[in-house]
Amino acid sequence: MTEPTKTKKTDAPAAAPKTTADKIKALDKRRDRIRNSGTAEAVAKRHNAGRMTARERIENLLDADSFMEMYQHRTHRATDFGMAGKDLPADGVVTGVGAVSGRVIHIASQDFMVQGGTLGAAHGDKIVEMMKMALKAGTPFVMINDSGGARIQEGIDALNGYGGIFYHNTLASGVVPQISLICGPCAGGAAYSPALTDFVIMVRGQQMFITGPEVVKQVTGEVIDGESLGGADTHATITGNIHFVVDTDQQALDVAKRLLSFIPSNNIEDPPAQNVSKPVDMTEIPELDAIIPDSARDPYDVRSIIRLIVDNGDFFEIMEHFATNIVIGFARIDTMVVGIVANQPAVKAGVIDIDAADKAARFIRFCNAFNIPLVTFVDTPGYLPGVDQEYHGIIRHGAKMLFAYSATTTPKLTVILRKAYGGAYIAMSCKALNADRLCAWPTAEIAVMGAEGAVEIIHRRDIKAAEDAKAKRKELIDEYNAKFNTPYLAAQRGYIDEVIRPRETRRYLAQALRTLQNKRDLRPPKKHGLMPL
Ligand code: HXC
Repeated sequence: MTEPTKTKKTDAPAAAPKTTADKIKALDKRRDRIRNSGTAEAVAKRHNAGRMTARERIENLLDADSFMEMYQHRTHRATDFGMAGKDLPADGVVTGVGAVSGRVIHIASQDFMVQGGTLGAAHGDKIVEMMKMALKAGTPFVMINDSGGARIQEGIDALNGYGGIFYHNTLASGVVPQISLICGPCAGGAAYSPALTDFVIMVRGQQMFITGPEVVKQVTGEVIDGESLGGADTHATITGNIHFVVDTDQQALDVAKRLLSFIPSNNIEDPPAQNVSKPVDMTEIPELDAIIPDSARDPYDVRSIIRLIVDNGDFFEIMEHFATNIVIGFARIDTMVVGIVANQPAVKAGVIDIDAADKAARFIRFCNAFNIPLVTFVDTPGYLPGVDQEYHGIIRHGAKMLFAYSATTTPKLTVILRKAYGGAYIAMSCKALNADRLCAWPTAEIAVMGAEGAVEIIHRRDIKAAEDAKAKRKELIDEYNAKFNTPYLAAQRGYIDEVIRPRETRRYLAQALRTLQNKRDLRPPKKHGLMPL
């Protein structure tokens, strides 16, 4: 390796090499300059801050020696504002193809040490070329963001570059998985490319916003620091713009690798590592029989149920810190990859609010696009009432879940654990939305609403007229619970297929997944449905 060169004006052209050996040497020299884009000080500064260079990120994500760089000689043609002849190695973005655990991906990694990783025409073209190649070859596309945004000196060419990226993000959406890593600044319009991709992984200490604190102060008078406005924890907990928050570049790369291990390379492939030739795993899990509390009011963590059911207790949760009243993530059941959606009774009793509906709907859409079966665990008292929710459009947002489940054609399996009330019973992949298998535990309560609320509405006069209103109310609640709050009425009507012992859940799901491997669900042709956005 030669000493890294500082970003500089290109020297006056040297005499053209004459012999083949000289030509090869000249290529080596060029390549060295491109590969060593930052000064030793700049590299040391990164390392001291616990950060990697653009190339180190690629090396640490891909299998050893699998990276083949593409378009490394592309560079800008700008001449204004000191750009004439300016040497920008790889034009500030390293692009190419490689493998993660033996599976091919295309990748672009912005190099902040080259003009702040800013995006000019050539830089934008290179990223777009990677997306086109990913589409052509049917591979995931990974974009590592570390950039000062549009390269100011390239003006409208830079903006055009972003436009091309957004367009190709959209073309690739639902065809190949797209993952964004935010390992450096990601401000202004640059934030829209991650927003158009399927999963966003963000490193703490970096910021992502449309306008920074100064502009916010100028326009609205609000005073806020960058971290509170667009830091990783803000996005992970408040905005829902990212899916994973991590502390270091290495952790971001590890999350990307794990994510890739669950998803297929494109929309005509099945998810990886399906092994359908072995007999179905008939294991029972006795601990599940004791997990639902006796009182319907008592909370429990639904993730403890998920971990008992899935292979090796390995549940890869997504958006772990956002809308925690619903849980989503990937796992395997009897080696088959599944997407899991579960109400979380430990948070707000598992109610579905606007954020929960958005979170679940988007995940359901991803699973459907990439042939991943969905397993839904239900324990919810319903949609969240309230002025705030109504004013912010719970109807529109809640409808996204109905739309997403209804439009899903991959296998849909539902397990009703406890409460399945009202609209939320429907929204959590009920039979009428074309669920393929729907079972309930004996603890299931399937009704229009809970007993307390129901008797106040249908027996108000009886309670008022009773000598002992309290006793009457209790009698009516017991009667309602006995009639409606069980799974058996729904089973008699055929709204659920089976009532099972909790310990049988894993084998029930494994068998159903196996049976539905070749599910066909053809819909009328149309350009696209109109999901309530
Ligand atoms: C050209 C830029 C640049 C830019 C940084 N640089 N941003 N060059 N265009 N947008 C250059 C710097 O001049 C410097 O060059 C090198 O990159 C490193 O930048 P520093 O400022 O020294 O680094 P640092 O102190 O770490 O600060 C990083 C930063 C800051 C926070 C990102 O540079 C910054 O605020 N930049 C401007 C961000 C911005 O407003 N971008 C435009 C957003 S609008 P030298 O030669 O000194 O090493 C946008 C529109 C897109 O992106 C719309 C799409 C729809």
